[in-house]
Amino acid sequence: MIKVGIIGAGFMGRTHGDAYNKLDDVQLVGIASRGQEKARKYAEDYHCTNYPEAEELIKHPDVDIIDICLPTYLHEQYVIMAASHGKHILCEKPFSLTLESADRMLAAVRKAGVKFMIAQVLRFWPEYMKIKEFYDNGSLGKVRVLYANRLAQFPDWGTWFQDVEKSGGALFDLHLHDIDYVRYLMGPVKSVYATGKQDDNGAWNHVVSVLNFVNGAKAVAEGSNKMTPGYPFTMSLRAVGDQGTVDFNFSAGFNLEERDTAVNNLVLYRKEHSPEVVDVEQKDAYLNEIEYFVDCVKNDKNPKVVTPEQSKEVLEIVHTIKDSLENGEVIDYQG
Ligand SMILES: NC(=O)c1ccc[n+]([C@@H]2O[C@H](COP(=O)([O-])OP(=O)(O)OC[C@H]3O[C@@H](n4cnc5c(N)ncnc54)[C@H](OP(=O)(O)O)[C@@H]3O)[C@@H](O)[C@H]2O)c1
Repeated sequence: MIKVGIIGAGFMGRTHGDAYNKLDDVQLVGIASRGQEKARKYAEDYHCTNYPEAEELIKHPDVDIIDICLPTYLHEQYVIMAASHGKHILCEKPFSLTLESADRMLAAVRKAGVKFMIAQVLRFWPEYMKIKEFYDNGSLGKVRVLYANRLAQFPDWGTWFQDVEKSGGALFDLHLHDIDYVRYLMGPVKSVYATGKQDDNGAWNHVVSVLNFVNGAKAVAEGSNKMTPGYPFTMSLRAVGDQGTVDFNFSAGFNLEERDTAVNNLVLYRKEHSPEVVDVEQKDAYLNEIEYFVDCVKNDKNPKVVTPEQSKEVLEIVHTIKDSLENGEVIDYQG
């Protein structure tokens, strides 16, 4: 039996709690969060114990995995605390907001020798997994152009999102998902150029980036959390290859919580074939991600689908995008 403690009883804390509850051989031991009313309700709903002090849950001898679902600016503090108590750690994305912070976290988990994964959920999202399969099995041929987007209304469930020092704005909170995925698919990045809109608080909340890859491919990615009220949560990806094109379009209600009723389609176009609407087996991506991490812990394997080093590299690329947003130039990525 793998025993889990979750830190943070908000949107992701509940999403992860739902996933653990669906797994055999996993027990959700406790929740620690700030607002005690929310935490007590969480403990009641998920049949676990509320720990008003996060460290009490983190150091509990029964707990194998600490799952960090806190606002981004708190990731470092709790990852380092969990590592110092020898716990395996799943931490929500983004890794952190600065590279120095990510380095401190990496040093702590390496010293502790624990399993550590940043929850880059697109790598576990059935349609994105299928696109990766098409890419890897040659269905698309050589992919030279990609377009990805992630468009949302402003997250209204946590005030910390408004503080760029705590969330990093849409650039780090939302756009980073697509940067992670296109890097996963296409390999190392050579240079970036980005343009966008910066809000009065300094947050880049609508960004368009162009990434040039070492293999010659180009990706255009757009990310925004400032869409007009009523605009559905939208994500899409198109990969154009010399043998085929794949087109994914997803459009839900206000937020991902309505993902079960979303418009969701994946179409594969290939030379000398009729366009094929791909039937993708549906499974919740967060469940896939958590099942994978639990399996790594159970079987003493280091996570390979997302490594901390890759997540650190993605954070570096996003910082390079920020530099380009600020000075309007194409910047070589010196990864
Ligand atoms: N992978 C994805 O698709 C995805 C989607 C959304 C968010 N995220 C990431 O997940 C993380 C959490 O986001 P969220 O949307 O779940 O945020 P959220 O709904 O605001 O939840 C954050 C939780 O942390 C608690 N908290 C805040 N400060 C704390 C403190 N000092 N000590 C202990 N608990 C504290 C909050 O308590 P209160 O209720 O008292 O404020 C709240 O319950 C972020 O890093 C975000 O970028 C990922």
